[in-house]
Amino acid sequence: MDIRRVIRQHIEMDEFFTGGFTVRRQKTMQEQPKCEEPRVDAARELESIAQEVGQCRKCDLGSLRTNAVPGEGDSSARIMFVGEAPGADEDAQGRPFVGRAGQLLDKIIAACGLKRSDVFIGNILKCRPPDNRDPRPDEIISCLPYLQRQIELIDPAVIVALGAHAARTLLNTNKSIGQMRGQFHEYYAGIGRPPIKLMPTYHTAYLLRNYSQENRRRVWEDMKKVLAECGMPIPESSGS
Ligand code: URA
Repeated sequence: MDIRRVIRQHIEMDEFFTGGFTVRRQKTMQEQPKCEEPRVDAARELESIAQEVGQCRKCDLGSLRTNAVPGEGDSSARIMFVGEAPGADEDAQGRPFVGRAGQLLDKIIAACGLKRSDVFIGNILKCRPPDNRDPRPDEIISCLPYLQRQIELIDPAVIVALGAHAARTLLNTNKSIGQMRGQFHEYYAGIGRPPIKLMPTYHTAYLLRNYSQENRRRVWEDMKKVLAECGMPIPESSGS
């Protein structure tokens, strides 16, 4: 075993989560290559989906919510994060990933050399299930078309599915997150459209509950693959 490689990996991973990193070559999101086709006004369409979601009563969750959480971010984001469903903080604010799990997601995004406004953050369900229980199949069936439309409009280079629920739903599989993470899968956005690369990784809420070096290293490795796939610079540990 190459001990220097192991030590370097360790420092890199640690700094990924603590913010002590430098970005080798800063490239703005506008410089990233993007689909050449003329785009519909994605931002306006996303806004209209958000309004529909705000009125939605397709399942029981619609009458239980304080606020719907349609998702937010750059309408031409290269990276789209998809979580499971809003929690209490998200329900209170109408914004995705704003509680503790969201703060960890913010750190991951920052460690990638990006800002929250550079990516799009959404969920499988747009309303909070009571007591944060797992989404029910009927709720997923009702809600999924909103996310499918968001993905189609944004057309990201990579979808990062946070946790088993998001990955299983988008890949239509029953595999565990352990089996899926670490490699790219294909998300099919529609007939005649090229598949979109999808990287499953641990949900940040899971990571908070299981904050081991090994799990943090796994998420860091997953994110490095995502950045490489997008042609984005990979932040370099400032300790090296
Ligand atoms: N967990 C999720 O899956 N989504 C959120 O928006 C917040 C926490």
